[in-house]
Amino acid sequence: MNITVIGTGYVGLVSGTCFSEMGNNVTCVDIDTTKITNLKKGILPIYEPGLESMVLKNVEAGNLHFTTKLDEAMANSEIVFIAVGTPMGDDGSADLQYVQAVAKSIGEVVDKQIVVVDKSTVPVGTADKVRETIQTALDKRKLSIPFDVVSNPEFLKEGAAIQDFMKPDRVVIGADNDFAIEKMKQLYVPFNMSHDRFIVMDVRSAEMTKYAANAMLATKISFMNEIANICEKVGADANQVRIGIGSDSRIGYSFIYPGCGYGGSCFPKDVKALKKIASEYNYEAKIITSVEEVNDAQKLVIATKVVARFGEDLTGKTFGIWGLAFKPGTDDMREAPAIYVIKELVKRGAKIQAYDPKAVEEAQNCYLKDVENVSYVNSKYQAIENADALILLTEWKEFRSPDFDEIKTQLKTPVIFDGRNQYHMFNLAAKGFEYYQIGR
Ligand SMILES: NC(=O)c1ccc[n+]([C@@H]2O[C@H](COP(=O)([O-])OP(=O)(O)OC[C@H]3O[C@@H](n4cnc5c(N)ncnc54)[C@H](O)[C@@H]3O)[C@@H](O)[C@H]2O)c1
Repeated sequence: MNITVIGTGYVGLVSGTCFSEMGNNVTCVDIDTTKITNLKKGILPIYEPGLESMVLKNVEAGNLHFTTKLDEAMANSEIVFIAVGTPMGDDGSADLQYVQAVAKSIGEVVDKQIVVVDKSTVPVGTADKVRETIQTALDKRKLSIPFDVVSNPEFLKEGAAIQDFMKPDRVVIGADNDFAIEKMKQLYVPFNMSHDRFIVMDVRSAEMTKYAANAMLATKISFMNEIANICEKVGADANQVRIGIGSDSRIGYSFIYPGCGYGGSCFPKDVKALKKIASEYNYEAKIITSVEEVNDAQKLVIATKVVARFGEDLTGKTFGIWGLAFKPGTDDMREAPAIYVIKELVKRGAKIQAYDPKAVEEAQNCYLKDVENVSYVNSKYQAIENADALILLTEWKEFRSPDFDEIKTQLKTPVIFDGRNQYHMFNLAAKGFEYYQIGR
């Protein structure tokens, strides 16, 4: 099939590449000329395990193309994906300006029947708006071209995006006619070989499914963090409680690890957007509001522990940070707890030595660009050289089983703040460390 994917971010580039891997002819479009120029040279704008080699292979095979010109991309396309960003607007709603700009451009260049697919996470009712925008552009051109607008929300996880896309738990298709449903099924059949993973529903339910899924996962995280905070007060151990409740198959082990809060490009903005959607329909989303409040506070729990140990004024103190990305396997720092922790410590006079396997550039050039007293190093042990404490904020695999003797040698004082509860099984007290974790 000939496909166009508009937006070459985490979702667009992964989706386009995976479709091309299955033998489709895919053209990825972006307005960012630097991104497209680099992609043409084989330089990727993001880090995602396995993506680079798959892009290079399919470009070489002639299945995957990059352009800034939508008309060129859409010349032979039967399906056009919208995978542009829907960032948080000032009032917390999803900002649809990029989606709508793309819809207008599609209407301005389309010249034969197409299926337009909303892959971006968009509020309920957006497909109707996209349809209207395309139709208005067609009316201006005095053309009558049939088209469908389908919702196909994406559930991939950064850090495991290729795996998730190639073997999805489900493929949700929100559509209102058989032609569009069949087209989508044809495209996704290669991703559903072992069993049928299609879930077909109406468009609004598909749009809502994405928000409900992210809100449910964020709720599990905030719930467990709240339990961890109560554990600290009552003298219980959140790690033991986690195992105690996770063993119940109705609860399960996933997404109940106590930590320093969720970040990333999706949960924070989608939780906020869902709250806003509800309020627009005069419904106050109480659980969702609390999920967000608990998470905002949780991002600073580690900083609070640092202050409790070292005092309000951190002048003259240096902290070694392990992990900047919002989670392992990605260079994405959007809403990462590290941003909040580092700013809080620096505000109190501390110096920071930070290390992350992939996100240092993002921190330096964007998220911590204007924050003074932060230096970046090339290895985890360099980050703790002469530091007053180690603070773990992202659970990269290379941090999981470190050399604790080396940590002790490098640190000025043997203090570890574990924002991801990675070391609670190591009996660090017996190794001579002061060990601070979440929920204990
Ligand atoms: N990142 C994730 O893990 C993830 C997972 C599931 C769903 N989503 C959703 O998918 C959507 C995209 O997310 P992302 O993380 O890939 O975003 P991103 O910010 O990484 O990428 C968006 C891309 O769209 C491009 N773009 C913007 N306007 C354009 C236009 N008019 N024409 C062509 N390109 C344009 C930008 O230049 C950018 O490269 C969002 O709605 C997001 O909520 C993201």
